[in-house]
Amino acid sequence: MVRKTDFLVIGAGIAGLSYALKVAEHGKVILISKADLKEANTKYAQGGIAAVTYQPDNYEKHIQDTLIAGDGLCNKEVVEMVVREAPNQIKQLIEWGVKFDQNEQGKYDLGREGGHSEYRVLHHKDNTGEEIQNSLVRQVKAHPDIEILEHHFAVDIITQHHLGKLVKRSHKDTECYGAYVLDLKTDQVHTFLSKTTLMATGGTGNLYDTTTNPKIATGDGIAMVYRAKGVIENMEFIQFHPTSLYNPGERPSFLITEALRGFGAILKTTDGKEFMSKYDPRGCLAPRDIVARAIDHEMKIRGDDFVYLDCSHLNEEKLKEHFPNIYQKCLSLNIDITKDPIPVVPAAHYMCGGIKVDMNGKSSINRLYAAGEVSSTGLHGANRLASNSLSEAVVYANKAAKESIQIAQKVSLQENIPEWNAHGTTYPEEMIMITQNYKEVQQIMSNYVGIVRSNLRLERALRRLEIIFKETEELYEKSVLSQKLCELRNLINVGYLIIKMAKSLHESRGLHYTIDYPKKGSVSEF
Ligand code: FAD
Ligand code: SIN
Repeated sequence: MVRKTDFLVIGAGIAGLSYALKVAEHGKVILISKADLKEANTKYAQGGIAAVTYQPDNYEKHIQDTLIAGDGLCNKEVVEMVVREAPNQIKQLIEWGVKFDQNEQGKYDLGREGGHSEYRVLHHKDNTGEEIQNSLVRQVKAHPDIEILEHHFAVDIITQHHLGKLVKRSHKDTECYGAYVLDLKTDQVHTFLSKTTLMATGGTGNLYDTTTNPKIATGDGIAMVYRAKGVIENMEFIQFHPTSLYNPGERPSFLITEALRGFGAILKTTDGKEFMSKYDPRGCLAPRDIVARAIDHEMKIRGDDFVYLDCSHLNEEKLKEHFPNIYQKCLSLNIDITKDPIPVVPAAHYMCGGIKVDMNGKSSINRLYAAGEVSSTGLHGANRLASNSLSEAVVYANKAAKESIQIAQKVSLQENIPEWNAHGTTYPEEMIMITQNYKEVQQIMSNYVGIVRSNLRLERALRRLEIIFKETEELYEKSVLSQKLCELRNLINVGYLIIKMAKSLHESRGLHYTIDYPKKGSVSEF
């Protein structure tokens, strides 16, 4: 079946939903999501969305904090643009019905997180993401020009390659004509043709054993664009959140928001000693790369499985009022956070790199835009400042919408695209091949491509991944497509990019720390 639309949106988190609402005023939109519309990383965001609202905060302070966290790799022009445009895009969220907490004087109740020199994080209790996701989902459902297709999995984007033409990596004339999409209810692959396409498929957390990301985060958009020969960058910069709840067997790991440390909670070793002041003058509120590495180090030298986050000295009523979900979650595990320390460990949390886009959210492929966690805009550099991702997503969704609207007026739908060829494929005999390889990829990445890296570990990871890559490609060629198989293939592609980029960066910077080059001061050879 062939479906035609002006704007194809792949992904229904904050980036895809807010873009869809903007372009829908100018044409027909098809919005696809591989899961239920409510399931996205966005739903899990806790701390909030960073933006300058009141004095003594100002743009310059937010810009400086972002640049410092990014450890020399941010694009300053992008940082300035996002910081200055974030307040307006947050107003737009409020117009779409998102509610942020206010104090008794009617001012926004601002939180603070690691690396922020001021209180500037707007939030809704400790479930900001759910509030945003629910409000935007309500809006798209009510829009007459947005067709929503849940449980539809984008397999690959369509380019000149599918017309039988040679497509070279980073070629400036490559164009995106839409995507092949697997209907997960019927197992049929359909052709979606569009004037412009937005990739908004979110992050890659499921590459790791321990992650805060829900199971949808399998790097699909990055893998699709890489296969289509688009430009991907900064993949070595994977952010591990310092404090996920230590609760073996639970997946995804439950996040203990950094806003709790902003509120005064203190990291301690299992014998009750504060340790962050040994590592950084900013203590528990140092940027995330520093705190995660410090925790990793303490756990390794002490042989502990976790460290503690202690809130027992904080005001009990205020703690419960600001962090009701964390309080309830911990209580369900017999941890009363007003009295007991919370056991925490770092967990894979955010992909700073991704599909390289310009300041209008355009990728290296014409008619293809990217926004949100899947993209690499230049805002985060080598390490993202907490709560900057939601702001980045709304600012870039707006930018990409503006340009896509213009492009859609100029181009027409591509003719003669062949339909998906499933000839000769069969259902895999044993799903264990897929599930086992999926687990192995997670083990390889966790053991060898984690918070602390080395040449030896990266080499080993690459060799192991190559074996799984070959096995999976063989299976893919002869199999009827399934979500699990496509996700495995995407994770392998993304893992490969992370390792290759990590191997070629001969220095330690931001989130990339290697014992072979422990200092800053080199350039990437990738
Ligand atoms: P997502 O919200 O992840 O949406 C991705 C969408 O793409 C989903 O609809 C998914 O189904 C769909 N999709 C994926 N692959 C396919 C495919 N192949 N075909 C079709 N659809 C597909 N950031 C902050 O700024 N502040 C915070 O407080 C904060 N807290 C966080 C807490 C947690 C626990 C986590 C996990 C992240 C947090 N982050 C936070 C990061 C932030 O939530 C994400 O970066 C952001 O929500 C990503 O939004 P997105 O729209 O790019 O992607
Ligand atoms: C948190 O609430 O600690 C997560 C914030 C973020 O990832 O930006």
